[in-house]
Amino acid sequence: MPSHAAPARRTSLRVLHLEDSELDHELEMAHLRRGGVQVETLRVDSEPAFRAALEEPWDIVLSDFNVPGFSGLAALEIVKALERPLPFILISGEIGEDVAVAAMRNGAGDYLLKANLARLAPAVEHAIAAHEDGLAREQADQQLAESRQRLSELAQHLQTSVDNERAAIAREIHDDVGGSLTALKFDIAWILRHSSDAQVQQRAQAALEVVTQAIESSKRIMHNLHPAILEQGLVAALQWMATRFEKRTSVACVFRTSHETMQLPSGVPLVAYRTAQEALTNITKHANASRVGIDLSLAAGTLSLEISDNGVGLRDADLAKSRSFGIRGLHERAHTVGGWVDLSSSAGGTTLILSVPLADAQGYASEFGPDTEPPRFEDSDDPSVWGTL
Ligand SMILES: Nc1ncnc2c1ncn2[C@@H]1O[C@H](COP(=O)(O)OP(=O)(O)O)[C@@H](O)[C@H]1O
Ligand SMILES: [Mg+2]
Repeated sequence: MPSHAAPARRTSLRVLHLEDSELDHELEMAHLRRGGVQVETLRVDSEPAFRAALEEPWDIVLSDFNVPGFSGLAALEIVKALERPLPFILISGEIGEDVAVAAMRNGAGDYLLKANLARLAPAVEHAIAAHEDGLAREQADQQLAESRQRLSELAQHLQTSVDNERAAIAREIHDDVGGSLTALKFDIAWILRHSSDAQVQQRAQAALEVVTQAIESSKRIMHNLHPAILEQGLVAALQWMATRFEKRTSVACVFRTSHETMQLPSGVPLVAYRTAQEALTNITKHANASRVGIDLSLAAGTLSLEISDNGVGLRDADLAKSRSFGIRGLHERAHTVGGWVDLSSSAGGTTLILSVPLADAQGYASEFGPDTEPPRFEDSDDPSVWGTL
């Protein structure tokens, strides 16, 4: 076995030795010392003594294969179950290859025959170095997982902040701009009614058209910022979205739901709405589909929203595009309410499923805000508007 690249040469090793023969113990320690290793060692020959000794810190465990009343493989199991496992080498007078292979698979760092103790010092060094590498790798993996977790939390926080900020801007447009435009529209209409001057009438009519257009633009901007249609409930919002999608794209879009209304925890309707919105945008942009289905169901305490198309399908590489954040954003969004997104695709099309377990009924707000008056449905417009003028 090639020795580990530039292993740090140890001057003193703490070796726990499970060995019933004092003679073999002396012999093996002598081999280690001859290999340049200073050894502090304890020999034990029973399970209780072995377990007790493991309370102490050790650099490595060497173990005989056959120990009366105990066994090297049982000792290996004990070492593996430690909170901080130790490197472990099995040493035997006559170890079969199959047993040796099984021991290595089980986590032994190495195995040796008593007839070949010249290999002991390098084997010990190698086992310790490999063990340390493993620990370093584990630590790096853990750091990576922590860093991923932090990144995901940050992405979720950003997502939520953006939603809140957008809702606040939409509210301001509604209250400020909306209020003023509505008042202006009433005033112009009044002028139109009360003036008989043709020129004034003409100007007022033009002004009315401009104001009407400004109101339409504000509605559109408000809807993009915050889908107030959600105040009518997720079911109504998705139904509206499906109808509007079909109208705009001429792609058949069917919406099915298990319930006419749903009581959902706050936050969930917006996540579901944005998921459907992104899925439909993707279908328009990428799928070349002729049929789309949106299925909403609430069963066994889990909300499930499925958007499927019969388009061209996608490949893993599509999801890895460095500038594509739509689906990645959906995963983070789903996490903000304890849910997840599954995506499956074949030549027959693509299906995106959002699942959100609704764990307990506590703290559930109705989909409807506390004192929102559901605005009236208005053709293809989001009723996130300030009345029908
Ligand atoms: N319904 C779909 N049908 C076919 N391809 C899709 C579909 N949805 C997504 N894709 C593919 O997955 C990629 C990543 O999607 P997404 O993360 O939403 O980013 P973007 O839409 O900005 O490209 C898309 O670029 C597209 O290639
Ligand atoms: Mg997209």
